[in-house]
Amino acid sequence: MDMLTRIATLTAETIANTWPDAQGLPAAEELRGLLAVPPNPEMGDYAFPCFRLAKTLRMGPPMIAQKLAAAWPHAEVARAEALSGYLNFFLNRANFARETLEAVLAAGERYGAGDEGAGKTVCLDYSSINIAKRFHIGHLSTTMIGHSLRRIYEFLGYKTVGINHLGDWGTQFGKMICAYKLWGTKEEVEAGGVDALEALYVRFHREAEQDPTLEDQGRAWFKRIEDGDPEALEIFNWFKALTLKDAARVYDLLGVSFDSYAGESFYIDKMEPVIQELRDKGLLTQSEGAWVVDLSEDNMPPCLILKKDGATIYATRDITAAIYRQNTYHFDKCLYVVAYQQDLHFRQVFRVLEKMGYDWAKDCVHVSFGMISFEGQALSTRKGNTVHLDDLLREAVDKARAIIEEKSPNLENKDEVARQVGIGAVVYADLSNNRIKDIDFSWSRALNFDGETGPYVQYTHARCCSLLRKAAEQSWPEPDFSTLTDDESQALLRLIGRFPDVIREAAARYEPSLITRAVTDIAQAYNKFYYEHRILDGEPAAASARIALTDATRSVIRTGLRLIGIEAPERM
Ligand code: ARG
Repeated sequence: MDMLTRIATLTAETIANTWPDAQGLPAAEELRGLLAVPPNPEMGDYAFPCFRLAKTLRMGPPMIAQKLAAAWPHAEVARAEALSGYLNFFLNRANFARETLEAVLAAGERYGAGDEGAGKTVCLDYSSINIAKRFHIGHLSTTMIGHSLRRIYEFLGYKTVGINHLGDWGTQFGKMICAYKLWGTKEEVEAGGVDALEALYVRFHREAEQDPTLEDQGRAWFKRIEDGDPEALEIFNWFKALTLKDAARVYDLLGVSFDSYAGESFYIDKMEPVIQELRDKGLLTQSEGAWVVDLSEDNMPPCLILKKDGATIYATRDITAAIYRQNTYHFDKCLYVVAYQQDLHFRQVFRVLEKMGYDWAKDCVHVSFGMISFEGQALSTRKGNTVHLDDLLREAVDKARAIIEEKSPNLENKDEVARQVGIGAVVYADLSNNRIKDIDFSWSRALNFDGETGPYVQYTHARCCSLLRKAAEQSWPEPDFSTLTDDESQALLRLIGRFPDVIREAAARYEPSLITRAVTDIAQAYNKFYYEHRILDGEPAAASARIALTDATRSVIRTGLRLIGIEAPERM
């Protein structure tokens, strides 16, 4: 049990014992929510505000606080003092150190894990790349936020379904086939991959300005895909395979994987019944020849379902996909990790589902995020100003490799560590801010071993590992935790003790950056502790306690990094 829960439980007990006849007293869980960390440490480690009890007990808060302080029997856990309506707790530092470290070391890699998600399923729609487009840095956030949330939910016992909702439907694929038939060769495209496809697409648009009949040809090819024409489908599926092969390189580097690649085209034959259902439920109205769901009551523009020519659109496929996912996976939550530009789209889609009478529509969540720029420059595919993710990752690995070469020339597995550190730097940079904020990626910031970066946290982890290797060369007595009462140890212990809460908050707010923050704080607190105390020297039982704290730090940093999709090398 973590310290907050412990204090809350003991407080609930003390209240119940002090006022045995009172009715409607708050339960421990509610008390836990009320416990706060006072603004200044002289007011204790936690404070319980007694205001909430005043009405129930018909007594002023200062009086309640005084009575509770006098009755508080748990000095071995914390001392309690009354101060103007608050009951302030001062933890028994030695006991806190022992309890926290015993909890971490007993749970090991499972410290902070839980089973609150047992029997529940979360679908995560993330990465969701587009066919025949290079994987660029703009798709990094959706990929890594989704991947991290998936690990977080799994850690809490949920079953997760990772879905790459491929952008693999639309008239552009007709144009691309047309361009390929006119100007491409099999060898060229096979060798050039997605780059070759992008080049064909650009050429199509250039030439179509001179020759408008190209547009008709493009449409005709798309019609052939729609009609299941074997030649069209073969080329289309080949484009798809090429794109996925390219993407697989990036996913491998990032350690990301999916349970399903059911993209937009997967829903083509599943939309008809959904459109019928919309019609039957009286939700479809005609507007300028198109069929829409009116959302004016909700102050939103209408959700377009069928275009004038009868073609479905992105939203039609998303509505169909949501219903399919609910029927197939029976999700308790379906998360869409997609940039904020699609806010309106998802609000419309979720509202239409609600209007259809699906009460699970409330379990669909758009996890939106801000834009990424690169070295201060906005990125735009149209202007050709893009950064390809595989280039970026490879460059990160090369740069990390050069730094490692300089810092640790004798390291054995430099290539592997360079991969872990380079990728870790990029991922950390991506997950270090509140997701809704725009971020700017900069090499010097991402790879700074002393700043708030992936390499810095990884380095602290490796430092712990190295100390533990050294410690393992001799045997140690049982740790004397009463020696860990100094401020540095306690600050670190407090962060470690809070870690399970941080994971839950990250899950509840869909915010991996909270974990990034927590591992960074822990790394900084550990380094402070490390500089103030000689870990292996002095009284053996005290050293043994510092070793235990080092081991707990190592374990928690490792878990935290794993939850944000970053590896933790043992040597750097
Ligand atoms: N392919 C889309 C894009 O790159 C994202 C798809 C998100 N998922 C969804 N179910 N709409 O913008």
